[in-house]
Amino acid sequence: MVSEKVDKIPYPSFRRKSESRNYNRLENPWSPVFFALLRPQPSGSGPQFHRGDYFLRVRLLIFLAQGAGSVKNLLKELGFIQRKLEFYLWLTYYKFMKINTNTWNRIRYTVYQPFYDLVGRWFAKQRRRSIETLSLSPGAKVLLVGAGTGLDLEFLSQGLDVTATDITPAMIQKLASRAENLGLSVKALVMDGQALEYEPETFDAVILHLVLAIIPDPVRCIQEVERVLKKGGRAVIFDKFLPDNQRPSLIRRILNVFTNFAATNINRQLGPILRETSLKMVQEEKAGFSGFFKIVLVEKPA
Ligand SMILES: C[S@@+](CC[C@H](N)C(=O)[O-])C[C@H]1O[C@@H](n2cnc3c(N)ncnc32)[C@H](O)[C@@H]1O
Repeated sequence: MVSEKVDKIPYPSFRRKSESRNYNRLENPWSPVFFALLRPQPSGSGPQFHRGDYFLRVRLLIFLAQGAGSVKNLLKELGFIQRKLEFYLWLTYYKFMKINTNTWNRIRYTVYQPFYDLVGRWFAKQRRRSIETLSLSPGAKVLLVGAGTGLDLEFLSQGLDVTATDITPAMIQKLASRAENLGLSVKALVMDGQALEYEPETFDAVILHLVLAIIPDPVRCIQEVERVLKKGGRAVIFDKFLPDNQRPSLIRRILNVFTNFAATNINRQLGPILRETSLKMVQEEKAGFSGFFKIVLVEKPA
């Protein structure tokens, strides 16, 4: 009786070729899948099932579970590879980050100086807008930190008391000759923006253009700015920042290894830097590249 029922089961054709009833259905690991997919469901209530069918279904479940297990293992493996990659990336990153020192900045900006204005000029609109937000009154004492070749000078009106500082002598030289050409009286000095050589509460305003993302220690720099600002004084920051609520993607971190080496850190966040000071954000504006660049006005509490 049992054998008759077995014969009625519409096996896939490759099965029929096997005349042997002892054919082990489970030899082919795919057989449960074929069975599940190809075999029509038994109709009627007759005893059309073979005992082995249940076994096959269980086997199918095991097979699927094994498959899911393999996918899980694969994902685990991928996670491990990613963690390893991240570790090596961190190591390289750490090494490259270390290269961002004052010495390195002096070297690279001495090399870039002859061409700097070609790129620096792209931001003329942002420079004008940023300086506008300070609403400088005549005679105000203004400090530029990391002033570069002085591309901001043309947006500063006559009658201000301007001091421009930068770590790179070549940049300061160019700034001084620009100031002369513009007929501006500017004190141009080589100075570390992380250790400003001024008494506390010396300046009414500070301009930080494209420097916080470059300077080795942006927190020390902004703390120095806070120190030398008069109470109620303002500083304006124009730079590229990663949004405070965003974690840099892996691609971005890889890219940053190179940009940090060559030019600038693209993963700094302004929020955590400002939180290390008492400076209050007064205004924030998007300043190009889909908000990657920002103009931020901050004030020292009175
Ligand atoms: C991208 S340039 C920006 C120059 C200028 N602010 C502008 O907007 O064109 C960055 C400048 O920061 C200067 N710099 C780097 N590290 C510095 C430091 N520790 N103190 C002062 N200036 C620094 C570099 O020499 C360079 O001139």
